[in-house]
Amino acid sequence: MCVTSRHYRSRLPSDKWLTRGRLVPGNPSGREVGCAESSELVARVRTLSFYSLYALRTHRTVTMAERKEGRLAGRLALVTGGGSGIGRAICQAFAREGAKVAVADINVSAAKETLSLLQGDPTSHRAYEVDVMSSEAVQEMFKAVCSDYKTAPSIVAPIAGGIPLGVGNILDMSEKSFSLMIDLNLKGTFLTVQAAAKAMVDNEVKNGSIITISSRVAESPRAGWSSYIAAKAGVQQFTKVAAIELAEHGIRCNTVLPGVTKTPLMDRHLAMEGPLKNQYGASGTGIPMGRFAEVNEVANVFTFLASDESSYVSGASIKVSEPPCTCPCRHGA
Ligand SMILES: NC(=O)c1ccc[n+]([C@@H]2O[C@H](COP(=O)([O-])OP(=O)(O)OC[C@H]3O[C@@H](n4cnc5c(N)ncnc54)[C@H](O)[C@@H]3O)[C@@H](O)[C@H]2O)c1
Repeated sequence: MCVTSRHYRSRLPSDKWLTRGRLVPGNPSGREVGCAESSELVARVRTLSFYSLYALRTHRTVTMAERKEGRLAGRLALVTGGGSGIGRAICQAFAREGAKVAVADINVSAAKETLSLLQGDPTSHRAYEVDVMSSEAVQEMFKAVCSDYKTAPSIVAPIAGGIPLGVGNILDMSEKSFSLMIDLNLKGTFLTVQAAAKAMVDNEVKNGSIITISSRVAESPRAGWSSYIAAKAGVQQFTKVAAIELAEHGIRCNTVLPGVTKTPLMDRHLAMEGPLKNQYGASGTGIPMGRFAEVNEVANVFTFLASDESSYVSGASIKVSEPPCTCPCRHGA
């Protein structure tokens, strides 16, 4: 079989592209092909090369188009604790990927400040006031969001949490301190996840993604942290059960376990807890990366779990990093 340059040309999308690729139209080698040298084998190899280049080019075009739109284009996301730290960075990451973002926080002026940092159409993002420890407030927030956007959020990240009255040894801990820790971190997550799931089911949201926040300490018991570890381990296990129960409604549930992350919470905490500060060190000693995480490095994990790229990931606990080693030899490093 004799394959001429005309034969090649008929299979190509455009001569223009070939010119840009510095190829002579119809010939991958860049020179004219004579019938004599065009054995069947050579022709097949060249045809295959053309199809590979064509496939590569097509793939690149699609990827760039998707990028332009964003991985969360057309999605509505709700983030509690969106007024500061990790929650704020998640709002920014979601907006960057094309989502409309409902920013909720007990501190509504902080939530409004977050709005001013979000990319995309500013009218598509809104701020809401909520105390996640109150079931009435959480339900009111979902009612308002669903009414404002005429649908339920398909992405919900209950990030509001923290260490309200500090941590400490069990013998010294007050009942109030323990209860508040559980109410803010664990009950707040439960109330938000429950209201989110109900709203998603009622509004027939098909690709729901709920992403809770635990902590790496949930898997590494250490003295002085019982209440926080109990709350965050609770969040982790609660999310796994939610994944099983909500799968039939098309809702995926995952939890993220960040290590020490540079946020106002961590600044406050390190300033407050003198002796415990030593467990972390000042510069991330013992952490695999040798430093604390930036908020956007944690937020990127949320974007993955929110997007369809993680369509099979549910019931997972994703560790963003290992916690600092507590053994004496590495402390000294
Ligand atoms: N920073 C870290 O190293 C780290 C590590 C692991 C997990 N986490 C978790 O990440 C989450 C965010 O922490 P951060 O470091 O960004 O803290 P942060 O203090 O910077 O932000 C917490 C936000 O939650 C809001 N909030 C507090 N109580 C609330 C309530 N009752 N209702 C609604 N909003 C409320 C605050 O106003 C604030 O805007 C927390 O759940 C925390 O436990 C943080």
